[in-house]
Amino acid sequence: EVTPEFTQNLPKAELHVHIEGTLEPELKLKLAKRNHVDIGQESIEDVRATYQYDDLASFLAVYYPAMNVLQHEQDFYDLAMDYLQRAAKNNVRHVEIFFDPQAHTSRGIAFETVINGLYRATVDARALNVDAQLIMCFLRDFSRDSARETLEEALNYKDKFIGVGLDSDEHNNPPMKFFHQFAKASAEGLHLTAHADIDQKDSIEHIRELLEVIGVERVDHGTNIVEDPDLVEFAAKNKIGFTSCPLSNSFVSPFMKGDEILELLSKDVLVSIHSDDPAYFGGYIGDNYYAFADKYNLTKEQVVTLAKNSFEASWISREQKDLYL
Ligand code: HPA
Ligand code: ZN
Repeated sequence: EVTPEFTQNLPKAELHVHIEGTLEPELKLKLAKRNHVDIGQESIEDVRATYQYDDLASFLAVYYPAMNVLQHEQDFYDLAMDYLQRAAKNNVRHVEIFFDPQAHTSRGIAFETVINGLYRATVDARALNVDAQLIMCFLRDFSRDSARETLEEALNYKDKFIGVGLDSDEHNNPPMKFFHQFAKASAEGLHLTAHADIDQKDSIEHIRELLEVIGVERVDHGTNIVEDPDLVEFAAKNKIGFTSCPLSNSFVSPFMKGDEILELLSKDVLVSIHSDDPAYFGGYIGDNYYAFADKYNLTKEQVVTLAKNSFEASWISREQKDLYL
């Protein structure tokens, strides 16, 4: 029987976690005080009372304003270190962490402040036995020019992150809007992934663009690919990873998209379980595994396959993967 202890202790790779989505109410209040930022909330209950959302847009409307408390390099360090301690408790052995520089540069925080704070935490995480890397995401509701400028600046810190991703509001913001930035990032040796959010109207076309034109190695969410058997076959053959997040899925779908995850598993697609924005959606990676396993009565073998998939879909070397598997 799969227990919460089993899912927590299983060695895992976390491939879909937004560092800004790990901002717990406690740290938010502490940083607001430290930086004298008036957030209009004074208690944990006040903060939690703002957590009302039932789709991507209503979530993002709560998510971005919370970031105002992040001002200094130390704040980004503290945010990431808090998360990495929770990751260690969940036996996350390897993590590829998303960050959204434009959510900070657009409010006057230097790129350097953001990446240096986060990166320093990833170095210190080695003491926790967590191998941590960073993935820089473009905000898809920002302009192409903003993405180009962000990548140009990021390339000055190329040794501090391993790939690029794409997140934020997908509506009317298809992946092809960022074709050139993905091509440039790839030419620079960076890995590629992108969100295809499951509640978005053109999502299947966006997945097609990602796989057939842009050439991403992973799709974040995207389990609705099951609608298109040819694309599923392509994904299986090319070992494309799908990073699904049951607890955030449950905000847009009553069954946390478990039927899609199981269908992909049965077709040998590299689907795996992650936590998205754990401070906002009710749990870290062990909780996500457990919620899914419990609702669908998964066997231990199925849960272990999901964890193996997480290492397979990660961007560590073959030798390192074989050590974990
Ligand atoms: N989708 C899009 N943007 C996001 C998400 C997500 O799941 N989490 C944080 N930003
Ligand atoms: Zn996400």
